[in-house]
Formats: sequence, structure tokens, C-alpha cells
Amino acid sequence: MNKATLQEIEVRFDKDVERFSNLETGQATTMDAVWNMELITDAIVRLYPDLENVLDIGCGAGNYDVKLLQKTQANPNVTLVDLSQPMLDRAKERVGVMTQGEIQIIKRDFRDAVLDEDKFDVIIATSVLHHLRDDQDWENAFLKLFNLLKKGGSLWIFDLIEQNNTHLQELIYREKYGEYLTHLKDEAYRDHVFAYVAHEDTPRSLVYQLNLLSKVGFKEVDVLHKNLCFASYVAFK
Ligand SMILES: C[S@@+](CC[C@H](N)C(=O)[O-])C[C@H]1O[C@@H](n2cnc3c(N)ncnc32)[C@H](O)[C@@H]1O
Repeated sequence: MNKATLQEIEVRFDKDVERFSNLETGQATTMDAVWNMELITDAIVRLYPDLENVLDIGCGAGNYDVKLLQKTQANPNVTLVDLSQPMLDRAKERVGVMTQGEIQIIKRDFRDAVLDEDKFDVIIATSVLHHLRDDQDWENAFLKLFNLLKKGGSLWIFDLIEQNNTHLQELIYREKYGEYLTHLKDEAYRDHVFAYVAHEDTPRSLVYQLNLLSKVGFKEVDVLHKNLCFASYVAFK
């Protein structure tokens, strides 16, 4: 199947700003979306009380940044990168009122965005990396994110993942996640979600990503949570 181009992805997200501005139920198809947002932002606040520079790649409408800024006493600068201008406009509006730090918005594929190296305490990458395609693309992206972090900085990911084992992929994704989607709505909805994932996404397994994060130089990687085909994980420079 032909995979979606960046332009197609941009156009789809241009029309989806409202859903991604909802801190509670915006992403029902994404299992434990709200719970992982709480977990990741709690962890960032715990580990970085003096947060200075945050980068959110594929920031959408800025939900993670809004949640983080609700919890931290710090006033970090926040750099927001996304393909979609309507998403960035909404993110800037929401995040800008929550910190005295500077807000920078960059409308660009994060792989090509010009950003300062050794600058960020924290990079947030949620529900975005599954758009990466081949092995080289994944490795270049992880290496770029590594270089953007300060020493001691960290990359926080929540995303759709695959299993390495094809039988487990069938069981966990097709059957179990399929049941979850059917229960959420109906079988037609399940098929609709499976079809757009097949068209748009190229997720990698959690093991693949953790190994690659170590390979590009991260000194510690850790798993926060996994439920079927969704997981949250972190890598420290
Ligand atoms: C599923 S949304 C998630 C938004 C947000 N991270 C969240 O968790 O609420 C994915 C976002 O990533 C953006 N995106 C996808 N590929 C991207 C890329 N290569 N560079 C920058 N943004 C990208 C899309 O435009 C979209 O706004």
C-alpha cells in the first residue's frame, strides 16, 4: 500500500485541531492517552524542577505542554514544531499564556527544522514518530533529537508500537486492539482505524526503538508503560 505523504498528513491534521485540543478525551483510539500524558508530565516535573527549554515535536495543539505547564513552577521557553499551521496557532495560543518563557513556533518537518544543539532539557515526541519510514529515517531522527538535548536531558515518547514477533502482532494488534476499537464504537470503526493506520503509519517495536536509542548514544533508556500496541518510554542523554 502507498503510504501517506507528509502533505497528506499535514492536511489531515489541519482539520483535527479541536480533537487534539481536548485534554480529556481527544484521542479515544489511543489507549491510555490521558493517563500517559499525566505520567509523562509528572515524571518531567519530578526530574526537572528547574526546566529551562522544552521542545515538542509534532506538538499538535500543545496538549502535553499545557499539561506540563499546569504542573511545573518553572517558566520554561517552549519550542513547538509541527507540520500543521492551524495546530501551531492553537498550541501557541494555549501554551503562551502559561509560561513567562519564550514561545517559538516552527512550521516544518521536525527532521529538517533548524534547532540549536545541546539546548533542551526535555524533548516531547508523542504520537508522531510512527510517521517515520525506513531504518535510516528512524536512526537519523533519534540522532538528531539526541544532539538537541543538553547533557542529562531526555526524550519522552508515547506512541503506537508493533511487536517484533508476527504472531504476537496478530494477537495484540489485530485481535485485542481490534476488540478495543469495536467496543469503543463498532466493527466499521475498527476497520476505519486499521485502514488509516495502514495508510499513514509505520510504527516500530518498542525493543527496536529502545535499542536504537542506545545505539545513537542515549546512556539510559527506560519504559514507563505499555498497553497492547501503545507504549511510553524515555531516553536520557
Ligand atoms: C497524532 S498528532 C499528536 C499531537 C500531540 N503530540 C499530542 O500528543 O497531542 C501528530 C502531530 O504530529 C504532526 N507531525 C506528523 N509528522 C510530523 C513531522 N515529520 N514533523 C513535524 N510534525 C509532524 C502532525 O501534524 C500532528 O499535529
